[in-house]
Amino acid sequence: MTRYLIRGAKPLRGEVEISGAKNAAVAIIPAALLVRGTCRIENLPQISDVFMLLKILQLMGAEVKTVDSHTVDIDCSGVTRTVADFDLMQRIRASYYLIGALLGRFGTAGVAMPGGCNFGGTRPIDQHIKGFRAMGAVVETSGGLVEARAKGGKLHGSAIFLDMASVGATINLMLAAVLAEGRTVIENAAREPHIVDLANFLNSMGADIRGAGTNVIKIRGVKELRGGFYSIIPDQIEAGTYLAAVAGTGGEVLVRNVIPKHLDCITGKLQEMGVDVVDGEDSVLVRRKEPLRCTNVKTMYYPGFPTDMQPQIAAVLATAQGTSIITEGVWATRYKYVSELEKMGARITVDGRIAIVEGVPKLTGARLEACDLRAGAAMVIAGLCAEGVTEIGHVGYIERGYENIIGKLRNIGADIMTVNYPGEQEDEILDAM
Ligand code: EPZ
Repeated sequence: MTRYLIRGAKPLRGEVEISGAKNAAVAIIPAALLVRGTCRIENLPQISDVFMLLKILQLMGAEVKTVDSHTVDIDCSGVTRTVADFDLMQRIRASYYLIGALLGRFGTAGVAMPGGCNFGGTRPIDQHIKGFRAMGAVVETSGGLVEARAKGGKLHGSAIFLDMASVGATINLMLAAVLAEGRTVIENAAREPHIVDLANFLNSMGADIRGAGTNVIKIRGVKELRGGFYSIIPDQIEAGTYLAAVAGTGGEVLVRNVIPKHLDCITGKLQEMGVDVVDGEDSVLVRRKEPLRCTNVKTMYYPGFPTDMQPQIAAVLATAQGTSIITEGVWATRYKYVSELEKMGARITVDGRIAIVEGVPKLTGARLEACDLRAGAAMVIAGLCAEGVTEIGHVGYIERGYENIIGKLRNIGADIMTVNYPGEQEDEILDAM
């Protein structure tokens, strides 16, 4: 097994370049199924979720050509299969976007049901299914498979009101609607940056989507989408993770290739904690010299504080002065990482969606096991802040969402390396996010 080994309590200094957004990439790659012709997608992050999705498309008959380390050409004209590789699909959550794309293109889809999430809870898709049915699909879920078929062979537009601003349901229904007959309106839609990025990608290929980024998205079905090229936005959560790391360790880092607006919800919270933040055109300078102050955090749908930054901010608050209260407003629970941080001396009490973080003077290095993508990132931050050595196992979770995290951290002064333990079997990680 590969483990990260971190010698902590060193301030971070230098510059870090942010990669393309994982949660945009995992929606845009399946969207290429809707396009007749070649899509050139630039600024793709080099992470295993992207490689896995490209492999799934290839196995379905798509032509995927690597142009450079962050750019691919995808031509799905030759795709005829509407059932994707079951084993590969089970490995990444985002494979469920294939349902919307296959239904939209072929009027039929057979896709693995996404498994339970790593951060302790189910990952229902009832809102996705409600929307597909409203658009005229028959949807059955049995034996770990979701099978959907458009009555009459083609979906029709519909007005859909989501019970909650689900990112996945908003994305899946957009994919299903772009080639449907007539107009679809998604109300209570998610507003995350990656929703807007997907809509911009689809519109650049000839779709007619308006209102992405607001809670009402209107989609007029078109006959077909032609090829084109598109560059993926920078990753809001990767950037937020590096901002949080500097807040925890102290120091000064220029985080480059970002959209500062997307980070407002994160930098605003860091400023409350006594961190200096200066927005540039496409960068953010983060600096922390003074002791960290405690604060309260409530995670919400965008533009609120992102749930995907919740474990990372908890790791930083663990050594802030005073007691902070974190409320998880999106997932029923997301605190599996707390027991790992407690091994380092963190004092965190969890009660359902609430975590009470009592700041301690310092954390001490320990041997930890990552349990999901963002929990793993939080453990890296805690290790960077802690005195002594921290080892982290199951780093496959982390590497599904963070391109070259070791290189990027070493580049800003972190003492972090990978260590291989050949005798320890690497678990088959069955789910990213
Ligand atoms: C996406 O997951 C992200 N994953 C998650 O990021 C992120 O935490 C989440 O959105 C919220 O921002 C990807 O984009 C690949 P949801 P998704 O549908 O789409 C409930 C990461 O770290 N719900 O917005 O699965 C659900 O239980 C990952 O990158 C239903 O009840 O999230 C949750 O409580 C982790 N029924 C809430 O809505 C549904 O049909 C939000 O879920 C759908 C969702």
